[in-house]
Amino acid sequence: MAVRTILHYPDPRLRQKAVAVAEVTPAIKQLVEDMAETMYAAPGVGLAANQIGEAVRIFVIDTAGDDEPSKLRVFINPQIVSKQGELVWEEGCLSFPGVMEEIERAAHVRVKAIDQHGQPFELEAEGLLAVAIQHENDHLDGALMIDKMGALKKRIVDRKMRRRAAERPGASAR
Ligand code: NI
Repeated sequence: MAVRTILHYPDPRLRQKAVAVAEVTPAIKQLVEDMAETMYAAPGVGLAANQIGEAVRIFVIDTAGDDEPSKLRVFINPQIVSKQGELVWEEGCLSFPGVMEEIERAAHVRVKAIDQHGQPFELEAEGLLAVAIQHENDHLDGALMIDKMGALKKRIVDRKMRRRAAERPGASAR
């Protein structure tokens, strides 16, 4: 297992649309382990494969609180099959360090995916888990939380992140 480097906005690789996983091979299982380790090391509640430069449709989530046992959830080739209601949640993203913004999403989602053992599953989620599923699923399509911000916020965050990247050359491209 290995902690991988997380790409930061505006790295263009974050805009790549990820491709479906054909088969859960040992290499895919290794990638899932690396993603989990990278997410826990950050620490974060979710990570999509293209955030570490692997443009395949996989994300991992663990929404357990600090006082709860960890519960890793692996989503391979996820599909959100239904969305209901609305909620606003203050979101962060490992590709936008230091940025927290209120984002509006569906309050309930139903998602289908394959787990790390190649088993298909369906899950209904609400609250933080629903937010995380929608946030990570957006990553797989090259969509980022900044896209959901108002024009002014978008400009502020874009400027902040570009300044950060300029001050730390190579930080998002190691
Ligand atoms: Ni993110």
